[in-house]
Amino acid sequence: MSLAGYEQTEAKLRSVLCEKSFAHAQRTAVTAKKLALRHDCGAGLCALAALAHDVARDMNDAELLEAAGRLDLPIGAVERKRPYLLHAAVGAGILSDRLGIEDDRVARAVERHTFGAPAMTDMEMIVFLADMIEPSRQFPGVDDIRELAERDLRAAYIMGVKRQLLSLIEMGRFIHPRTVAAWNGIAKEVRARA
Ligand SMILES: [Fe+2]
Ligand SMILES: [Fe+2]
Repeated sequence: MSLAGYEQTEAKLRSVLCEKSFAHAQRTAVTAKKLALRHDCGAGLCALAALAHDVARDMNDAELLEAAGRLDLPIGAVERKRPYLLHAAVGAGILSDRLGIEDDRVARAVERHTFGAPAMTDMEMIVFLADMIEPSRQFPGVDDIRELAERDLRAAYIMGVKRQLLSLIEMGRFIHPRTVAAWNGIAKEVRARA
């Protein structure tokens, strides 16, 4: 992806995101680029996917539900209650219309950025992690994930999913079936290696 593509995407994003979300997208892109360079994983494409990951982040509930219906995305009871949970899947579906990005790898990284998934590619893990550890993120253990992400993407991704699960449990919140699927993918892989 050329620099012009990146800059064009930035300009388009400015018109669909509020200042706060736009700044988060930029920080996520910078973090993703560093991780990609570190792990030799197509820095241009990773940075672009990270920049675009929250393209649907500022759509309101009605807009997200409408877009999900139009895109034929599965809308469960959880999504009906919290349409925000659709922003990753809707984002992947509107990438081409909103930002002119037509790349399946980018779309999948956007689609998987909130819940993770079984069998994540390096690029998908980089976008997931960059979103979680960009410099403004602060939560107990974030520095451990930051440090691990420098050395071992997979281990950092596993730590990230685990942390998501544990904090949902601690807060007494519902665990989305896709988070469970991501975790089961990890558990299966760990068992196969043992
Ligand atoms: Fe997001
Ligand atoms: Fe994000």
